Amino acid sequence: MNISLVGAGHVGLVTGACFADLGNQVVMVDHDTKKIASLTQGRLPFYEPGLEELVHRGVAEQRLRFTPSIREAVEHGLLIFICVGTPSRPNGEADLSAVERVCRDIAKHLRSYRLIVEKSTVPVETGAWIKRTMRSLVRKGVSWDVASNPEFLREGSAIQDFLQPDRIVLGVESPRAKQLLLELYKPLKAPVVITDIKSAELIKHASNSFLAMKISYINAIAQLCDRVGADILKVAEGMGLDQRIGRAFLDAGAGYGGSCFPKDVAAFVRIAEKHGVDFPLLKAAALINTAQRTLLVNRITEHLRGVRNKVIGILGLAYKPNTDDLRDAPSVDVIRTLQKHGARILAFDPKAMAQANGLFTGVTFCRDVYETARGADCLVIMTEWNEFKELDFARIKRSMRQPLIIDGRNIYDPVALRRLGFRYVGIGRGDAGD
Ligand code: UDX
Repeated sequence: MNISLVGAGHVGLVTGACFADLGNQVVMVDHDTKKIASLTQGRLPFYEPGLEELVHRGVAEQRLRFTPSIREAVEHGLLIFICVGTPSRPNGEADLSAVERVCRDIAKHLRSYRLIVEKSTVPVETGAWIKRTMRSLVRKGVSWDVASNPEFLREGSAIQDFLQPDRIVLGVESPRAKQLLLELYKPLKAPVVITDIKSAELIKHASNSFLAMKISYINAIAQLCDRVGADILKVAEGMGLDQRIGRAFLDAGAGYGGSCFPKDVAAFVRIAEKHGVDFPLLKAAALINTAQRTLLVNRITEHLRGVRNKVIGILGLAYKPNTDDLRDAPSVDVIRTLQKHGARILAFDPKAMAQANGLFTGVTFCRDVYETARGADCLVIMTEWNEFKELDFARIKRSMRQPLIIDGRNIYDPVALRRLGFRYVGIGRGDAGD
């Protein structure tokens, strides 16, 4: 099928490249002409495992192309996916100005039937709002439909999440829209939930908010573990074996970051309030998540007996492994607070160094883990990159000023590290005091 996607970001680029790989003819448009130019030359604006090869293959086999022209995209795609960002406004509400601009642009160029598909995470009732906008702008006599097809892609595993989804959600309001989307997704073997647009929009926000709540719940339990000396990894293991709970998203640590959870939780609270529903459960999840960053700073301060003039090595900057994304990463808040209290920061991340350069001042960026440990009073794990898991700890201990490790993602075994002569501090690892 001929499809077009508007917005070549983390969602749009993965979705477009995967649709092309499934044999569709894909046109991607973005108003950032520099991004379009670099994509056309095969350079991607962010790191996502496997994406570069997929884009190169799609372009080489002429199933994927990039353009700055929305008219070209509207002419090409029978289905037009809206994949633009919906960032948070200061009050937490989702900013739909990019969605509005795209709808107006599409409406202006519509000359024959098109299915406009919401792929971005949007507040419930956005579909209704898009229909109103289209109705007022589309040339008389031209037919169109709107549908909602929310994405559930995790950065770092986005291609796998697209090709092997737990479910495909289709919010449709006409037989034609339903038939087109079922045909498009036919190659994927996954359960399909067919519903109305509002329910489809709610499924996305409700899912993300639930996952964020699950993370904050286990982080609250981890705080209790620290007080009573229990081990959060064992607690999570025991909880997760209950089929009704499940082990995923029960990893205690620095908490969630990224461009989705923080934004979606804030937007969902606002949406609920706008419709007269108070959502204290979700507000608490956001508060706990923010407090995790403070808890980490306090733990570092406590174990160093103050951070002024101390050298602190930060391992991991990205908000999660296998991405270079620093948006709302816990490392950013932790580093800035430590610097405010007079600490000197050394930092290393396998993929996010380029993105980090413009974000911090006064941070010494290191080439690897061992340079980050050299002369450090403590090492803090902020992102659970695999390459941090099997290190030459004897070499690290020799080069540190103090053998203190603060494990913000619980990736190490406290007993093993203590046996090597380290003071080890985790999050809820039954190590009340080290
Ligand atoms: C999330 C949703 O999972 C995805 O469905 C949606 O489409 C986009 O938002 P993403 O933010 O890319 O995906 O990554 P995810 O793996 O969900 O992790 C989100 C954050 O939670 C990361 O900061 C991660 O470090 C943190 N996390 C995750 C935990 O702290 N503990 C966990 O157990 C799991």
